[in-house]
Amino acid sequence: MRTQVAIIGAGPAGLLLSQLLHLQGIESIVLESRSRDAIEGTIKAGILEQGTIDLMNAIGAGERMMKEGFVHEGIRLRFDGREERIDFPELTGGRKVMIYAQHEVIKDLVQVRLDTGADIRFEVSEVSVHELGGTRPQVRFRDRDGVLRRIDCDFIAGCDGTQGVSRPSIPAGELSIYERLYPFGWFGILCKAPPSSDELIYAHHERGFVLVSTRSPEVQRMYFQCDPTDKVENWSDDRIWAEFNARLGSRDGWKLQEGPIFHKVIVGMRSQVVEPMRYGRLFLAGDAAHVVPPTGAKGLNLAAADVRVLARALTHYYATGRTDLLDGYSDTALKRIWKAQRFSWWMTSMLHTFPGADAFQRRVQIAELDYVTGSRAAATALAENYVGLPFDGL
Ligand code: DHB
Repeated sequence: MRTQVAIIGAGPAGLLLSQLLHLQGIESIVLESRSRDAIEGTIKAGILEQGTIDLMNAIGAGERMMKEGFVHEGIRLRFDGREERIDFPELTGGRKVMIYAQHEVIKDLVQVRLDTGADIRFEVSEVSVHELGGTRPQVRFRDRDGVLRRIDCDFIAGCDGTQGVSRPSIPAGELSIYERLYPFGWFGILCKAPPSSDELIYAHHERGFVLVSTRSPEVQRMYFQCDPTDKVENWSDDRIWAEFNARLGSRDGWKLQEGPIFHKVIVGMRSQVVEPMRYGRLFLAGDAAHVVPPTGAKGLNLAAADVRVLARALTHYYATGRTDLLDGYSDTALKRIWKAQRFSWWMTSMLHTFPGADAFQRRVQIAELDYVTGSRAAATALAENYVGLPFDGL
């Protein structure tokens, strides 16, 4: 079979790209190794930047998000026995974020794509990419029914995340990898309880970081910093609540709302970027090219930003035959990616307790939090990164 752009991976990057291309009259086929149920049920983060909200609306996928998502106008930073607020619209000229879980975004994107008759193939296996250096690359795969197939295309978009085939298909010597591993992870829970706060709480504590997030008036999402090698089986519900309470305290009559826990997960934390995000006719986007630690929730938003740049470059190519924007894709995307890397690394460093950290380091962290919440300039720097930096010229 033949298409213009073969897209590997039906995550946010692949699905958004396919819809952006469709709206410009460019054909694609999306290949996904998992089932539709699996991708629509995998629980990840849930914060959409203003630019991601706008993009979902612009491509016709925002209707349910606008009804069911929760707009948040700020966050709380809790440290040293205090809680301070960062007000996003006031500091950023009206920008906000939306709480809307990633798997809900996926459901909406799959639906919008299928409504237009899109070709999305779930449960494919043995995906491989070929002839990347020429003008007629190919993707081979085995479909759900066991039949081996080949796609001839103009371009391949590698949107298949950290475990996908796209990145390892690039010869090792062609890529530079920049990486930080953090000596801690996040223990995440979902529980049935009312919200403990009307805005997210990012809490610094000697015992470790805590994030109080939410999914709905009935379901809450919370995380605490943990040993990345720990096991969820080691944590009974009682032990989890005791840890949250030890780190959050009960101040000014505030109390953590507890309830039955129905999901537990430990996530590792690292920062990683590969450069360049292109090899011949293969373009990487989203987690296939970069990973951020979860603090600040930039992962999905960066994937959306990448494909915005890539869709524009492909549209320009098909309209004019010129490759200048495709040639600039990696550099353009990396400018935003490195700023988001810096922000995620900075939030992580400011809020977590590093093993072996002494009182000096803790006092510097408290001073930084005091500065960020006390200085309008510093608060603005946090706020404008959190809601998403503007898209220069896009
Ligand atoms: C969530 C995750 C994050 O990494 C974050 O910074 C804020 C919220 C979440 O899953 O709700």
